[in-house]
Amino acid sequence: MAAVTPLLETSVLSRSFGGLRAVDAVNFSLESGEIRAIIGPNGAGKTTFVSLVCGRIPPTSGAIRFAGEDITMLPAHRRVRRGIAYTFQITSVYANLTAFDNVALAVQRRLLDEPQEKASRPALAAATMDALERLGLAERADTIAGTLSYGHQRLLEVAMGLALKPRLLILDEPTQGLSDGEIDNFIGLVRDMARDSTVLLIEHNMPVVMALAGRITVFDAGRILAEGAPEVIRADPAVQQAYLGTAAT
Ligand SMILES: Nc1ncnc2c1ncn2[C@@H]1O[C@H](COP(=O)(O)OP(=O)(O)OP(=O)(O)O)[C@@H](O)[C@H]1O
Ligand SMILES: [Mg+2]
Repeated sequence: MAAVTPLLETSVLSRSFGGLRAVDAVNFSLESGEIRAIIGPNGAGKTTFVSLVCGRIPPTSGAIRFAGEDITMLPAHRRVRRGIAYTFQITSVYANLTAFDNVALAVQRRLLDEPQEKASRPALAAATMDALERLGLAERADTIAGTLSYGHQRLLEVAMGLALKPRLLILDEPTQGLSDGEIDNFIGLVRDMARDSTVLLIEHNMPVVMALAGRITVFDAGRILAEGAPEVIRADPAVQQAYLGTAAT
């Protein structure tokens, strides 16, 4: 069987903070088209790992390849151009702008990178409203982002990521602060997004993980503890010991 180049691959990727190995020699591989969940206890290194992938922080050692090319030294904004979008645990919306303007900025960033595409005002507005609608935020387009609920600010961040039409969309605990109804809607949305983008999802909410993930990677103490299909991971005694026993189910 011919080997397929993974969309994302890390080799012995490490990041230390002082004496702490937050990410410790991680070999990780993600195929194009997957929805992959990363789970693991607090402090396992999940956010640090995806921060390395998107270039928010540099690794201490190791390498990252995206679509077959080494991106280890590439600055974050150049990785965005290559199609890596992310939303983070700490919301990073522009609090003083409306929801519409936040998403419009992301759309504009994409249109700027596509010179053939006319970045006309109607095209910008249409793409912006489309992203807001998909997140169920259309009615809040004119709301100042800083006055949205925490959950809605998280959704707004996802809309901003989605507006970039990324090849890889990284979501760090996107359902935190959402109601049950909003979570159901979000699950449908991720399935929808996964038709165009590969999704890497850090999530503590196990029903969300089980509903979405094709495969699960379990982090513990900076390392990959286990990896596999949801049913296999759920039945894994080491995973239960490290994490599932304490996680909300
Ligand atoms: N900037 C930093 N400076 C120092 N230590 C850090 C920094 N960022 C993370 N750490 C430490 O690295 C370890 C991994 O943290 P990380 O945020 O990656 O965990 P996590 O798996 O995302 O946890 P959670 O589920 O709570 O979000 C933790 O011990 C954390 O305290
Ligand atoms: Mg985290």
